[in-house]
Amino acid sequence: MAPRKLAAGNWKMNGTLASLAQIDQLLADAVPGCDVLICPPATLIHAVAAKGIATGGQDCHANASGAHTGDIAAAQLKDAGASHVILGHSERRTDHAETDAQIAAKSVAAHEAGLIAVICVGETETQRDSGATLDVISAQLAGSVPDCATAANTVIAYEPVWAIGTGRTPTDAQIAEVHALMRERLSERFADGADFSLLYGGSVKPGNAAEIFAIAHVNGALVGGASLKAADFAPIVAAL
Ligand code: G3H
Repeated sequence: MAPRKLAAGNWKMNGTLASLAQIDQLLADAVPGCDVLICPPATLIHAVAAKGIATGGQDCHANASGAHTGDIAAAQLKDAGASHVILGHSERRTDHAETDAQIAAKSVAAHEAGLIAVICVGETETQRDSGATLDVISAQLAGSVPDCATAANTVIAYEPVWAIGTGRTPTDAQIAEVHALMRERLSERFADGADFSLLYGGSVKPGNAAEIFAIAHVNGALVGGASLKAADFAPIVAAL
């Protein structure tokens, strides 16, 4: 099977019930032919899923249940209507000091609950400037992607930290280099490594989406700011 195309919106800590109007507009505007996923804050997962659009969480706990105040189990996301969960976003890695091993454990929990894990990797600007990008991505893939990953239960998102929310994007050649590396590493490790969907994320907008989607091994995008308004996200979906 070929990698599935996916346009994923990460609303981060944005959105209230009033934001559901954006889902209505997106469903009216978006073109069929690729998967569209919205990852709202946990407070909105049930309501977004009820609209009939694929819905994801933005994190889950590695344990199935227990005394973990403020955390959400993968099965609870599933129960609320989610089909996916973003794991290892750089904001989680930075704000909550999440390690590759923790992200892998969360991914196992997600898979056990029947969720598709969208595992994020990406280098900082300092790492890129020092020439360490490919080593960083290789290490994050090795550490964050569990052995139980398959093309059916896992999506990988490459998000250079310095491109997130900054309006800066890597060159096409830089994106191509990392995506080719990710394809190679996944294919070395998994029998279906050629089939994993690989997303690019970081300042994707209506004006640059088509160019980014034309790059080899880019199967879609993980979009932050431009996913908050249907008027911005619908043309990105249409470009896929
Ligand atoms: O998860 C999404 C990414 O962090 C990208 O965010 O599109 O606002 O740069 P951005």
